[in-house]
Amino acid sequence: MLKSTERNAGSFFIIATVFFFIGGILTTALPAVIEKSWNKPSAGMKPYTESEARGKAIYVREGCWYCHTQQIRTLEADVKRYGWRGVDAPISTPSEFTRDAPHMFGTKRTGPDLARVGGKYDKSWHKTHFKNPRDLVPGSIMPPFPWILTGNNGQDFEDLVAYIQSMGRTIPWRPNNDYER
Ligand code: HEC
Repeated sequence: MLKSTERNAGSFFIIATVFFFIGGILTTALPAVIEKSWNKPSAGMKPYTESEARGKAIYVREGCWYCHTQQIRTLEADVKRYGWRGVDAPISTPSEFTRDAPHMFGTKRTGPDLARVGGKYDKSWHKTHFKNPRDLVPGSIMPPFPWILTGNNGQDFEDLVAYIQSMGRTIPWRPNNDYER
């Protein structure tokens, strides 16, 4: 069979396609069928509040996800980098994403991952940061988003911050309002 496959483009294509689908099913469909806990929401998860949901829509609209991912990978570099005050950031689990459609995993980290950013900074930090990131982080290449502060009479900013503060808070790892201490 293999010899004829080498000589015959048609059967090569068919067998390659079959192997492609076997690989696809084994790595994407089957694990989710076997591991039922994946589609259960994590213990502390509540649906997004209206404000958080609007904030998420702004996050999508403004393309924050071009530069920011939302996934803590199983790498030492990730858990240390996105941890806080010596506490490692918990690795992302599928349960955390059950309320997100589409999810905001992102593909590329031009900026830091945001999966655990909720509670890291207070509102006034975000205000200054959206106005001009360079005022807080010299050399930052994040663009300013001043229209978010004024959009919809300031509601856009409230909503986006509500969404940011919700990130990574469905699992207990960092005390609420950590930044206030
Ligand atoms: C062109 C790429 C780019 C885009 C688009 C972008 N950012 Fe950033 N962002 C960065 C970079 C780079 C940093 C790191 C430097 C800094 O803090 O300014 C950053 C930092 C941040 C931080 C601080 C993270 C931390 O852990 O310190 C937050 C929060 C953030 N961005 C939110 C947003 C939001 C919300 C949007 C959409 C409105 C957005 N960013 C759009 C590149 C980007």
